[in-house]
Amino acid sequence: MSEYPDDLRGLVEERLEHLAYSPRPETAGLGDAMRYSLLAGGKRIRPVLCLATGRALGMDPAGLLPVACSLELIHTYSLIHDDLPAMDDDDLRRGRPTSHVAHGEDVAILAGDALFAEAIRLACEQPGEPERVLAAVREIAAATGVDGMVGGQYFDVTGGDEDPDALRLLHSLKTGRLIAASVGAALQLAGRPDSADEPYRRFAVELGLLFQIVDDILDVTGSDAELGKPSGSDERHGKVTYVSLYGLERARELAVESHRDALTALEAADGETASLHRIADFIFTRTS
Ligand code: IPE
Ligand code: IPE
Ligand code: MG
Ligand code: MG
Ligand code: MG
Repeated sequence: MSEYPDDLRGLVEERLEHLAYSPRPETAGLGDAMRYSLLAGGKRIRPVLCLATGRALGMDPAGLLPVACSLELIHTYSLIHDDLPAMDDDDLRRGRPTSHVAHGEDVAILAGDALFAEAIRLACEQPGEPERVLAAVREIAAATGVDGMVGGQYFDVTGGDEDPDALRLLHSLKTGRLIAASVGAALQLAGRPDSADEPYRRFAVELGLLFQIVDDILDVTGSDAELGKPSGSDERHGKVTYVSLYGLERARELAVESHRDALTALEAADGETASLHRIADFIFTRTS
């Protein structure tokens, strides 16, 4: 973790800890369930990517925290629902019993729903030119929706075709779109011409794919303790993954290619991209 931009991660942790959802005592239990999953120590890759992109473009990272943290709320909601008995039926997440194990399925579903809505509220509170903020919120919502994370999860649970193009599409939707939007939201807030953003966008798409290839590999090679979630979950559920389709060795080669392609795209980007480079290396070499 030494190469990871820990200063940015610290900013995210602090803001997440101080988020308040409602003063009403009647719903305090729901707020507790949301915080139980949110403050369980994830890697914070999406908000950190957003802040690092802002930094690359010369913006003050702390000024992007509402939009950055909204990405982590959405991601946490996706994890809570992903673990439900009707989905991946997993009982360990971020080193803790999953939300439905700790709070019951009904409250877990609602905690996920609430995190999504609170994420949109938080993103709308982002200071900045209204048009740019609106574009950022739109990009995040689109990356979460049917042509994004939820569409990818639909693809995942209904069992996609076992061919390379279908798998690439599955990964780019269920994981890639939200990671790409983490870069994209900062680009929207910066409001630069599309031509200047293009290398950043290519970098972000490749990074999203790399992230899920590595996730598939770790599902086979990692331990529950390292991952903080059950290893072997994909095989138990007959999921089509980079490992099931290509085998471990070829999946590792594809991760090497994807990492290289991400960095090649980043080289063409203007700005101070050192933090983004470190995040790409971290995503490639991570063990959790
Ligand atoms: C896991 O995401 C789920 C996927 C999209 C593959 P992360 O590996 O970012 O999980 P946390 O946030 O660190 O727990
Ligand atoms: C889930 O993919 C991606 C999400 C949108 C949450 P996985 O099912 O592979 O994620 P993990 O391995 O349980 O974290
Ligand atoms: Mg899943
Ligand atoms: Mg899962
Ligand atoms: Mg996985």
